[in-house]
Amino acid sequence: MGELPTSVSIREVGPRDGLQNEAPVPTADKVRLLDALSATGVRRIEAVSFVSPRAIPQMADADQVWAAARKVPGVRYSALVPNSRGAQRALAAGFTEIEVVVSASESHNRHNVNRSVAESLDDITQLIGMLHAAGATAEVIISTSFGCAYEGDVDPQAVVRIVDRVVADGADRVSFGDTTGMATPYRVQQVVTAVRERHPDLPLLLHFHNTRGTALANILTALQLGVTEFDASVGGLGGCPYAPGATGNVATEEVVHMLHDMGIETGIDLEALIEVAKLAQEIVGRELPSGVLRAGPRTRLVAA
Ligand code: COA
Ligand code: ZN
Repeated sequence: MGELPTSVSIREVGPRDGLQNEAPVPTADKVRLLDALSATGVRRIEAVSFVSPRAIPQMADADQVWAAARKVPGVRYSALVPNSRGAQRALAAGFTEIEVVVSASESHNRHNVNRSVAESLDDITQLIGMLHAAGATAEVIISTSFGCAYEGDVDPQAVVRIVDRVVADGADRVSFGDTTGMATPYRVQQVVTAVRERHPDLPLLLHFHNTRGTALANILTALQLGVTEFDASVGGLGGCPYAPGATGNVATEEVVHMLHDMGIETGIDLEALIEVAKLAQEIVGRELPSGVLRAGPRTRLVAA
């Protein structure tokens, strides 16, 4: 299979990206989901976002969720923020790993955070300074890195230009979002190669939605290019209730199932994770799109 990494760092984003795209669920269920995930061996969890409750009502109780959640030593928890108000809230809540966001395409950025890409980049310059001054790290998420639902293909060089800017501003990490599930192995190869040409040592974190069924193929392509960090969401939670055809993140248990079979370590207990996927399904009250949740791992035999 070519040279593959021996271990991969998975960030579980179900509690944020997943639940933000489901019909709102009670605070106590969000806490149950977070606590259950913290017990699976996963080492990174995107716990909440501190955003406008008008924009994303699903995250209006982020402070309460985070206050009640068990913080398990050895798990890194992060929060997403869209502006300095969000950054202040995240810092006050005790987060030290914070994600800020900009899209690679104008129209998506406008829809998501109501400003131009240039304005967002100026905000991010300020935000990085503010977060560093408070002792926190700043990750920049570049949404629509592999295509934009409003504008179509996104030039990998547009992504690279954003990376250039935020790296110069001191971003600690950069991640590449496929918000609307437009990535394919070909696009992954194009974007990763373009970014690597300019920033050979920058760790890349990739974030795929399985909207068109290409997420695992995208991850395999990225692994073959040496990428070792991925977002995923338990059960494949997500998929905007207001956008027909939108699908959640790639399901964490499907990623873990594939990686472990290739001998790639994640630290995650797959059986425990599948139990959490069942819990997620119960919480949102609909069948989730994960094949490993439905059928179990390939090593789970049926009676002859
Ligand atoms: N936390 C809580 N409230 C916030 C907030 C934050 N981080 N940022 C803004 N608000 C409030 C404002 O106080 C204002 O409230 P009011 O209407 O009661 O006065 C309202 O939200 C609108 O604020 P404004 O600054 O005018 O922002 P906006 O309407 O231009 O929206 C964002 C811009 C960025 C705040 C909003 O689009 C947003 O939160 N987007 C998040 C999108 C997201 O999470 N996408 C998924 C991740 S990629
Ligand atoms: Zn997403």
